[in-house]
Amino acid sequence: MTEENNTAPLEGKFIVLAVTGGIASYKSIELARLLTLDGAQVQPILTQNARAFVQALPFQILTGHMPIEAMFPIEGGRHPGDMPHISLTDRSDLIVLAPATANIIAKFARGMGDDFVSTLLLSAKAPVIVAPAMNPRMWANPAVRENVHLLRSHGHLVMEPGAGRMARAEEGQGRGRMPEPSEILTEVRRLLLPEPDLAGLRLLVSAGPTREKWDAVRFLSNRSSGIMGFALASVACLRGAEVTLVSGPVSLPDPPGVRTIRVESTDEMRTAALNAWKNMDAAIMAAAVADFRPANPISGKQKKESGSASIELERTPDIIAEMGHKKGNRVLVGFAAETDNLKENALDKLRRKQLDLIVANAVSGEDDAMGSETSRAHLFDASGAEEAFPLLEKHALAEFILDRVAKMWEKNR
Ligand code: C5P
Repeated sequence: MTEENNTAPLEGKFIVLAVTGGIASYKSIELARLLTLDGAQVQPILTQNARAFVQALPFQILTGHMPIEAMFPIEGGRHPGDMPHISLTDRSDLIVLAPATANIIAKFARGMGDDFVSTLLLSAKAPVIVAPAMNPRMWANPAVRENVHLLRSHGHLVMEPGAGRMARAEEGQGRGRMPEPSEILTEVRRLLLPEPDLAGLRLLVSAGPTREKWDAVRFLSNRSSGIMGFALASVACLRGAEVTLVSGPVSLPDPPGVRTIRVESTDEMRTAALNAWKNMDAAIMAAAVADFRPANPISGKQKKESGSASIELERTPDIIAEMGHKKGNRVLVGFAAETDNLKENALDKLRRKQLDLIVANAVSGEDDAMGSETSRAHLFDASGAEEAFPLLEKHALAEFILDRVAKMWEKNR
């Protein structure tokens, strides 16, 4: 897989983003940004009602395409002589309707075409993703339910709106909130990307540092950012794996589609990881687990008036080594963060911990991988064979590591 593919998976795809009038239309600006960042060409369309909530300008700046706002754009003549609803549907790989009001859902379900968006939908050849947003009472209305049912029976993907607090507090709780832009992006990728090679793989990933408590406010930890583990989890999920991510404290949001378990200490990570490992086909343990912890943590706060202080440290349990003992023919990948003797130390760890593959990277000097977006990694397998990579974005490295996992998993099946 090329680096280009990794950074822009929707490269070459043409997506129509149709925005109808609801308070959630501001979220579609973020969706336009995510789709464009993912490499897609995005043509926004705003209905007259959408224009009451959002301006065309942010969509134009983010996507590089002037939003279409009317059926007959005589004024300004942006597409003279053209039948833009037909030419657009000819070109598009996907139409995303977000937010979709009860009104557009009704028009789409019943085949009405009285404005640009509804007419475009009538001539759609590409799949349509509908991201509804409305008051929970409207979503529960039998006529809306019937229209949603009709659209689904016509083969369109109508997402479930989110539950919980609405934009306006007085609208109360219940289903009606537009699905988050990142959730819509996941559906877009799922529909447009080729057959995933990791479908059926149950994968555990660990990420981030662990924190070992010293007193009520202080802890020992390390510089790990979690970027590598989160990249592995989200790339594996996109490639079809069923991913469980166990992460120590990091500032990254849960990757869409990944079951994410947040932990603090090594003990908590151990419990979560060993529990999950029972039902996994493979694990990639990218966490920078603390090797030592205070032997006698203090329940209150250590007073500085007591002058100097010392902490007695004890070893933490080696989680991956325990997993290695219960490995069977499953795939187990570890990481080795080294400041020197990369190969020797990595191979020693691979053997001691009974791993199939170890990803070794430097954590000092100019290629320091810890906390960085990039890494210069060397992979070693159980035969001692080495594969060296240039400095790569961690997302790109994740693709290569997952290629190796896919091969080993295939062989073991
Ligand atoms: O021995 P070292 O800490 O260098 O080994 C790194 C590998 O072992 C990583 O995959 C890390 O997630 C794992 N590890 C672990 N439990 C520990 C220490 C490391 O699972 N206590």
